[in-house]
Amino acid sequence: MTGLSDLPIRDDLRGLSPYGAPQLDVPVRLNTNENSYPMPEPVVEAIGKAVAAELRDLNRYPDRDALALRADLAAYLGHGIDAEGVWAANGSNEIQQQLLQAFGGPGRSALGFTPAYSMHPLLALGTGTRWVPARRGVDFGLTADEAVAQVREHHPDVVFLCSPNNPTGTALDPAVIAAVLDVAPGMVVVDEAYAEFARPGTVSALAVLPDHPRLVVTRTMSKAFGFAGGRLGYLAADPAVVAAVQLVRLPYHLSALTQAAARAALAHREALLGTVAAISQQRDRIVTELRRRNLRVADSDANFVLYEVGGDQSVAWRALLDQGVLVRDVGLPGWLRVTAGTPAETDAFLAAMDKIQREGTSAPQSPKGTP
Ligand SMILES: Cc1ncc(COP(=O)(O)O)c(C=O)c1O
Repeated sequence: MTGLSDLPIRDDLRGLSPYGAPQLDVPVRLNTNENSYPMPEPVVEAIGKAVAAELRDLNRYPDRDALALRADLAAYLGHGIDAEGVWAANGSNEIQQQLLQAFGGPGRSALGFTPAYSMHPLLALGTGTRWVPARRGVDFGLTADEAVAQVREHHPDVVFLCSPNNPTGTALDPAVIAAVLDVAPGMVVVDEAYAEFARPGTVSALAVLPDHPRLVVTRTMSKAFGFAGGRLGYLAADPAVVAAVQLVRLPYHLSALTQAAARAALAHREALLGTVAAISQQRDRIVTELRRRNLRVADSDANFVLYEVGGDQSVAWRALLDQGVLVRDVGLPGWLRVTAGTPAETDAFLAAMDKIQREGTSAPQSPKGTP
């Protein structure tokens, strides 16, 4: 049988394994920061109708520029953004891949402050962009000085900032974004996949778009909108950035069905985003409850929580899974990430944590405040 190593695959891909958060059929799935609430029935019906209306015309290619969808997304974002300053693709992963195709690539570099979203380095790899793993400071924080020093040192063509950051959950101080914009020689991408969950008063980088033609804000309908299966991500930026991305996107990359479904979902945004408050409440409950159990927990502005298990995180991960609770081991020694879902899912997660603490699978540490 032919194995991967028998193929003339690119040298830099040899020996690697693909991205793969486990997709396991267990009762409580809290490992990929999905929205635990299913689509409300009226939205299911609306999307069904919108998709059905496209079926007869599937002999034709879709609108290559997705103009109607981009106008709807711009209206949702506000901030004076219009359709020319928005671009959409199959998830914000594809958006970021297109950005690296246009602004990274062979001979160029992209920098991110780790730990951050694990796909950023993988997208760099896939596009032949050299990845620079910059560091975060104490307790996974990032100050303007720390960020500026590393951008100055490495001169990356693309800087990734993630706010709220995955896996820590914490939103970036806008001063950090401003400072990076001041010194970055190339593009600055602010990944705001979890923006809708941020606490009131958290400032989106969208607010400073008009002053920064090299700033790109990426967003997604996968999280707050509960539309992960629909695959719809987008960016907001200067229209010149959209023109650049159009040079590398595949023609007709966004199917007519996806465009129609996303537009119908956006039209029902009040119903879909209605889950954000309930999920944020569960997030805050998880933070409070874990701290009450003397575990260190990162401040979260997202729909997930990073916490220290007080032992080997892979052992704790397995012990939780054995109780039907799937969380995420992001490879940070001693830490696990759990998605905030329904109240019942939080109950199950906390009960499972209590059991592993009782049985000593993960011994509690002394309280040390936030990481
Ligand atoms: C920070 C961040 N950005 C982007 C994404 C990608 O989301 P999607 O491709 O579903 O839009 C994720 C998914 O987990 C994420 O955590």
